[in-house]
Formats: sequence, C-alpha cells, structure tokens
Amino acid sequence: MSTYKVGYFVGSLSSTSINRQLSKALIKLAPPDLEFTEIPIGNLALYSPDFDADYPPEARAFKEAIASCDAVLFITPEYNRSIPGALKNAIDWASRPWGQNSFDHLAAAVIGASPGGIGTAVAQQSLRAVLSFCNARQMTSPEAYITMTPGLIAEDGEVSDTTTTEFLANFMKEFREHIQRVLTVLPRA
Ligand SMILES: Cc1cc2nc3c(=O)[nH]c(=O)nc-3n(C[C@H](O)[C@H](O)[C@H](O)COP(=O)(O)O)c2cc1C
Repeated sequence: MSTYKVGYFVGSLSSTSINRQLSKALIKLAPPDLEFTEIPIGNLALYSPDFDADYPPEARAFKEAIASCDAVLFITPEYNRSIPGALKNAIDWASRPWGQNSFDHLAAAVIGASPGGIGTAVAQQSLRAVLSFCNARQMTSPEAYITMTPGLIAEDGEVSDTTTTEFLANFMKEFREHIQRVLTVLPRA
C-alpha cells in the first residue's frame, strides 16, 4: 500500500496540551494510508532575516522535515484570538529565505481545540490567512472547531463520544482525499 506522509505541527508548547491529545485522536482515527510525523516547533530561535544567509541547523532540519512530507496538518490552540507566537515563528522560518518557501503548493489542513465554545475558530481564520499568503493548498471544508470538555479525549487520544469520533474520522478521511487531489495536479518532487 502506498502511503501519504503527513507532517503535523502542534501549536502548543504546553506539557499538558489538549491540542496534543487531539493530535493523538486524529492519528488514531485517520485512514491507514496516512503516515504521521510530528514536526516540532519548540526548538527554533526567534526568526530574524539575519539568519537568511546561513540558516542554523535546527531551522534547516525543520525545513527539510516539511520538504519530506506530502502534506501538513496544523493542530493549534487559540491565544488571544490568534495563533500562538511559537507557531507563527515556526511558519516564518519555513517561509524563508525568500524564494524557498516550504509551504508553496503544499497540501494543508487546520484544526484546533479549546475549552471555549468557539473552539479556536478565530485562531484558525488567522492561521488560514497566513497559510494563504504562504501559498499552501488548504482544505477549506470541513472546518473543525473542537470544544474540549473534560473527558472528551483521553491522554492517549481515545475519544469518549461517538459523535466526535465520527466527526474527527470524517475530517481525516476528507483530508486524505484533499491530499490525493492536490498531489494529482501538484506532485511533490
Ligand atoms: C496566552 C493564552 C491566551 C489564550 N487565549 C485564548 C483565546 O483567545 N481563545 C480561547 O478559546 N482560549 C484561549 N486560551 C485558553 C486556551 O484555549 C487553553 O489554555 C487551551 O488549553 C490551550 O491549548 P493547549 O492545552 O493545547 O495548550 C488562552 C490561553 C493562553 C495561555
């Protein structure tokens, strides 16, 4: 069976992140031909154009990790009605040096969880605007705004409720189809 390589970013640096729990649930519920690798964002310095002439090893490794994927998945919290600074910083690294934007034509999807009722909707709109400028090929539907209630997703990613299980499984099925469509017209080198 051929597989699609999906790199995923967890937008939170928290050791008790609910978005990391969500990432585990998504991996469990994804179609079997999706292969997941986390691309960590926490070891990157704050980006400056001063680095463009000579990216540090961790930033090179970060861009190489993205280059080795067929698609990327963003699982992010909402911070002050936008995305966490660590995630924006990581995207800025990947988007540069000018002309070497790692997201160009890359299939992408966005999802997030918060304890609040709108489940990261505002952060996701902010992230979509950034990814749009970065020329990523985003899945626009379905959208997924997850309100995390106590016990909904266990630490190992087990989802306790059937409706959410089905919703997340369908999100990943649609993402798989989106990846396949994008690769049909924009094959990765
Ligand atoms: C700096 C900061 C800003 C936050 N801003 C928002 C917000 O705008 N909207 C929201 O729904 N929750 C907000 N929260 C609460 C987060 O949704 C909550 O802490 C959540 O657990 C973060 O996700 P994580 O557990 O994956 O880190 C904020 C939390 C922090 C620490």
